[in-house]
Amino acid sequence: MERIKIYPSVLSADFRCLAEQIRTVEDAGADGIHLDVMDGHFVPNITFGPVVIRWIRRLTRLSCWAHLMIMEPEKYIPAFHEIGMDGITVHPETGHDLSALSAQIQGLGMKAGLALNPETDASVIEPVLDRFERVLVMTVRPGFGGQAFMEDQVEKIRQLRRMTSSRAVPFEIDVDGGIDPGTAPVVVRAGASGLVAGSAIFSQPDPAKAMDAIRGAALGGSPS
Ligand code: DX5
Ligand code: ZN
Repeated sequence: MERIKIYPSVLSADFRCLAEQIRTVEDAGADGIHLDVMDGHFVPNITFGPVVIRWIRRLTRLSCWAHLMIMEPEKYIPAFHEIGMDGITVHPETGHDLSALSAQIQGLGMKAGLALNPETDASVIEPVLDRFERVLVMTVRPGFGGQAFMEDQVEKIRQLRRMTSSRAVPFEIDVDGGIDPGTAPVVVRAGASGLVAGSAIFSQPDPAKAMDAIRGAALGGSPS
C-alpha cells in the first residue's frame, strides 16, 4: 500500500498570511496543494482564479492541482496551464465530453483528474476512468469548506477501488470534504489513497499538528 497523500485545501486558509500557512503545511509534509476554483454557477460560491493562483503557485514547490468547479472548464484550462498547474480536476456534471477534457489537459502536459459530486454514480465515469490519473470523491456538496462529511459516499470509494483494482499501478482515489482525524480512517479503509482537507488543517490553531493528526489517524485505516 502506498503512503496516504495529504492535500491541504487553501479554501480555509487565512489569506492574510497565506505564504506562511503554505510554508507550514509544506514543512509538515503535505503532498500537494489543492486549489478550489468556483464560478458561482456550477456551485453557489465564488473563490479565486488564475490571477490569484499564479501567486500561490510561486509560494511552494509542492504540486498544485486546481479543482475546477466551473461551468466552462475548457475555456480556462490553458490559463491554468500557463500559471504552472501540475494537474486539473474536472467534473462530469458540467456535461462536457470527458475524454476531450482529459486530452486537452494532458495535451498541455498536465495531469487530469475527475471529481464526482455526491449525487453522481461511479458508473458514470467508469468508461473514461482510464483517461484520468486520479479521481476525487466529493464527500460534501461542493461549494464550501467546513461542511459535514457524507458517510453515504463511502461505498462509492469502495466501488471505485474495485473498478480499478486490476491496474498494475494503484489508481489514486482522493476524497474531498469533511476529512478530519475522525473520517480519515473511514475513507482510507474504504480504499482512498489521498485526502483533501481544508478546515481540519487551516481552521485549527496549529495547522502542522492538525495535519499530523489526520495522517496519524489515516494510518489506522491503512491495510498493513
Ligand atoms: C469544497 C471543496 C473542498 C473544501 C473542503 O467544495 O472542494 O476542497 O476545501 O473543505 P473541508 O475540508 O473543510 O470540508
Ligand atoms: Zn476541492
